[in-house]
Amino acid sequence: MYDVAALCDNCRPMRPAVLVTKRIYPEAIEYLRQHSDVDYAESDDGLSAGELMERIRGKRGVVSQLTDKFTATVMDQLEGVRIIANVAVGFDNIDVPAATRRKILVTNTPDVLTDTTADFAFALLMAAARRLVEGHQFVHSGKWTKWRIDLLVGQDVHHRTLGIFGMGRIGQAMARRGSGFSMRILYHDAVRAPETLERELGLEFVTAERLLHDSDFVSLHVPLMPQTRHLIGVGELRMMKPTAILVNTSRGPVVDEAALADALEDRVIAGAGIDVFENEPQVHPKLLALENVVLAPHIASASVDTRKKMSMMAAENAVAALEERRPPNLLNPEAWE
Ligand code: DGY
Repeated sequence: MYDVAALCDNCRPMRPAVLVTKRIYPEAIEYLRQHSDVDYAESDDGLSAGELMERIRGKRGVVSQLTDKFTATVMDQLEGVRIIANVAVGFDNIDVPAATRRKILVTNTPDVLTDTTADFAFALLMAAARRLVEGHQFVHSGKWTKWRIDLLVGQDVHHRTLGIFGMGRIGQAMARRGSGFSMRILYHDAVRAPETLERELGLEFVTAERLLHDSDFVSLHVPLMPQTRHLIGVGELRMMKPTAILVNTSRGPVVDEAALADALEDRVIAGAGIDVFENEPQVHPKLLALENVVLAPHIASASVDTRKKMSMMAAENAVAALEERRPPNLLNPEAWE
């Protein structure tokens, strides 16, 4: 038997080409390379809009990240692209209806990050409530000279009321964590959850106003859509208790960041734990100067295992489409039919 590929480069069967726009975990690259010719932008910088268009030419698939913007205008130029496989559960960086019109499949990475993200949302809640970062800084700065009865006193978490906006997978995982702390769980969503789920998790469906008014902690788990942009603004912050804490691990623009900074400064609410920002990686300067907010650089899903799984899942979605198999995490089935 000959090794055909060894004899002649041109004799190799044509393999589809895939662009990976940014660094991901190596096992995913390895898998992609087994099935396609990979153009790997192996950097954390991401591609400019111009570079993206340039390198996408001739590709059948793209493994993208939330920093890559696929607007309808960009989509118009994606000649021959069959799939955009986003390495994220959120896909607000992609105009999915525009992709569907052009029969481009779009996939995301659900489930694998649910518990990891909820763990982090709860960690932010705890850190803000119990003033963990302030405590850390206090000890580090050498200011801790004596034990004091009211040193860095914060809010109890257990037996308090947790209000959750968005009862999808991550919202449910957050509710489970709240139940573990004997919390009362209120939620609001565009669609009410099935009764069985409400019963299982001990959820109370309430209006947005009531949730804001009654909750000690408000945690956001909605996707970014026109309807959820600035879901929390000046008016909503004013409805919250002065002792309340806001947690956001969803998308930055769900909260009016300037309004939040003002509300924290003026003690309209007591604190916040924020992982996502309106203009990442920029953070509103006022937030940086405040002590009653815990800030994180969009890392809620950032555990080693989860980020590896997300990378792999996106690679598997891309390869499925290249092989004309329906990708497991297809967001726009209409583009497949
Ligand atoms: C997502 O998956 O949408 C997160 O924001 C990044 O992990």
